[in-house]
Amino acid sequence: MYEVPPQGGRRAVVTGASGGLGLEVARRLAGAGAEVVLAVRSLERGARAADLIRADHPDARLEVRLVDLADLASVRAFAEELLEAGRPVHLLANNAGVMRPRRRTETVDGLELQFATNVAGHYALTALLAPRLTAAGGARIAWMTSSAAHVGRIDFDDLQAARRYRPFRAYAQSKLADLVLARWMAERAGARGLDLVSAAAHPGYVRTNLFSNGASVGRARPRRSLLESRWLPHQEVDWGAEPMLVALTRPEVANGAYYGPGGPGGLVGPATLVRAPRRATREGLGDRLVEALAGLTGVELAL
Ligand SMILES: NC(=O)c1ccc[n+]([C@@H]2O[C@H](COP(=O)([O-])OP(=O)(O)OC[C@H]3O[C@@H](n4cnc5c(N)ncnc54)[C@H](OP(=O)(O)O)[C@@H]3O)[C@@H](O)[C@H]2O)c1
Repeated sequence: MYEVPPQGGRRAVVTGASGGLGLEVARRLAGAGAEVVLAVRSLERGARAADLIRADHPDARLEVRLVDLADLASVRAFAEELLEAGRPVHLLANNAGVMRPRRRTETVDGLELQFATNVAGHYALTALLAPRLTAAGGARIAWMTSSAAHVGRIDFDDLQAARRYRPFRAYAQSKLADLVLARWMAERAGARGLDLVSAAAHPGYVRTNLFSNGASVGRARPRRSLLESRWLPHQEVDWGAEPMLVALTRPEVANGAYYGPGGPGGLVGPATLVRAPRRATREGLGDRLVEALAGLTGVELAL
C-alpha cells in the first residue's frame, strides 16, 4: 500500500471529502501530517468525516468548509474564504463527483449537473485558487477522472446535453474534460516555468455511493444503479484512493502524469502510470475547453 510521505507544513483542499474516495484521500493526507480542508456540501456529513479521520489520527489538523461545486456562487464564496484567511494552499484534490443522474438535471447556473459538478465547479475553484497555489511552492493539483474518459467525447455543440441527454455520455464527457484540464494546466505550468504540478488519477472500480447517489438524483427514494456490480473486479477505497494520493504526493510525479490501478482491466491494483487516450491529447482541445469554461463560469484560468 502506498505510504504518503510526510506532509507537515502542507495545506490540502480535498473536494468531496465527506465520503468515498475523498474521505480516504483526506484521511491519508491528514495521517501524513498535512492540514486538510474538507470541502463538503453538507457540514453535517463533513463533521462526521472529520470525526472518522480523528478516530484514526487524533492530532489531525482539519477544517470543514462548505462548498457546493454545482453552484458557482458557492464555489466563489468558498474560494474567497480560503483566500481571505491568507494561508497557503499546497495541494488541491479535485475529487467530488456525480455520476449518471437518470434525468437531465440543471443547476442554478443553467448547467447540466454532471458538467457543473465534475468540470465547471472544479475548473472555477482551480482558477480562483491558482494564484495561491502557484505562490505556495511545490504545489500539486490532482484531477479525479475515470476510465469512462477513455470512451468520452466533448461535444462543444451541446456541452450541456440540452439537445439530447444520455446519462453515461454526459458523465464520460465530464471525466474526459477533467483529464484534458489536468493536461492543459500541466502544459501551461511547464511552458511558464511555474512551480506547480497538475496530474490526473482514476480509481478503477470502487463500490462507493457514487452509483446509487447519481441514480437517486431527483428521486424521493434512493435507487440502485445497474453499474453497481458484485461481479466486476473491484477494490476498497484504500486502494482506490492511491492513484490520487500518488499524483498529489509522490515526489517524482511529472507534470501531466496520469495514474490508475495497474491490475486487470485497470479496475484494481496498485497505482501505476496510465497512458491518456488519444481523445484527451488532441491539439487545441484544452484551449477550446478552457475558453468555453471561462465563458460559462465567468472565471479566467490565468496561468
Ligand atoms: N467509485 C468509482 O469506482 C469511481 C470510478 C471512477 C471515477 N470515480 C470518481 O471518483 C470521485 C469520487 O467518487 P466516489 O466514488 O468517492 O463517490 P462518492 O462516495 O459518491 O463521493 C462523491 C463525493 O462528491 C461529493 N459531491 C457530489 N456532488 C457535490 C457537489 N455538488 N458539491 C460538493 N461535493 C459534491 C459527495 O458529497 P455528499 O456526501 O454530499 O454526497 C461525496 O463526498 C468522483 O469524481 C468519481 O467520478 C469513482
